Amino acid sequence: MASSSIAVAAALILCILVAHAHGCYAKHHAAPSAANSSWLDAKATWYGAPHGAGPDDNGGACGFKNVNLPPFSSMTSCGNQPLFKDGKGCGSCYQIRCLKPDHPACSGVPKTVIITDMNYYPVSRYHFDLSGTAFGAMAKDGRNDELRHAGMINMQFKRVPCQYPGLTVTFHVEEGSNPFYMAILVEYENGDGNVNQLDIMESRPNGGKMAPTGQWVPMKESWGSIWRMDAHHPMKAPFSLRITNESGKTLVAEQVIPIDWKPNKTYSSLVQFH
Ligand SMILES: *[C@@H]1O[C@H](CO)[C@@H](O)[C@H](O)[C@H]1NC(C)=O
Ligand SMILES: *[C@@H]1O[C@H](CO)[C@@H](O)[C@H](O)[C@H]1NC(C)=O
Ligand SMILES: *[C@@H]1O[C@H](CO)[C@@H](O)[C@H](O)[C@H]1NC(C)=O
Repeated sequence: MASSSIAVAAALILCILVAHAHGCYAKHHAAPSAANSSWLDAKATWYGAPHGAGPDDNGGACGFKNVNLPPFSSMTSCGNQPLFKDGKGCGSCYQIRCLKPDHPACSGVPKTVIITDMNYYPVSRYHFDLSGTAFGAMAKDGRNDELRHAGMINMQFKRVPCQYPGLTVTFHVEEGSNPFYMAILVEYENGDGNVNQLDIMESRPNGGKMAPTGQWVPMKESWGSIWRMDAHHPMKAPFSLRITNESGKTLVAEQVIPIDWKPNKTYSSLVQFH
């Protein structure tokens, strides 16, 4: 049977790439974009266990879970407002480095971290409150403890495209979701890494199966990387989801949340930003 290749082809066709003229400039002009290739100055601090992922529960203000495990692998950071962007910065990727003048233990080798948490203390214009692991990763071999002992250092950063090899955009239906209230965490988007808008489409019976209604309804940003939908009627699954990335491109995961969906479950799509 070629049904699986048909499914993949259908997913590719549904991977509609639409460029919006707005959004790219107006909204986030103050923060670096994924295309911004120059190093900018920031302050770095760290929190949590010296070799940990930051928060004790391996979560954070973005709602991601198990950030101590791949693909995050503890290379995580809190961002201040220009980085966390009230949650819209969740999942964005940055290269970080520190140089010898910043601290003698600095290696200068760029490492990639993902924004998974927030810290709005007024430390500097750009502030990375890194996991102990990520802070130590900026050090020369064997000197990460020495670097962590500095507590706060100057560092440099730049926005880079996220890369999640082998992973597709993934949705976690949050605990407490029901047919009148859906809360969905979006993870693992290549490129921008963060979500600017999430839209949902219900299904309706059509010729013995459930077909998408054709009507996108915008979801609201709840907190972090979690988007919510409050409905006045019981919503009918399967649900399709449409992500708009920071560059205004959209990606459609057709009927990715199945008819028998459950709260606290993860659903992988067939689609990914390229
Ligand atoms: C990079 O970001 C900085 C700080 O926001 C900005 O001043 C600069 O114009 C940006 N450069 C590019 C090429 O976008
Ligand atoms: C947004 O998504 C489009 C479509 O996949 C992609 O070409 C673009 O690179 C993404 N934006 C960035 C900056 O990664
Ligand atoms: C949600 O799922 C995770 C992993 O599958 C599990 O460890 C956790 O206990 C679940 N939470 C609840 C509230 O059921």
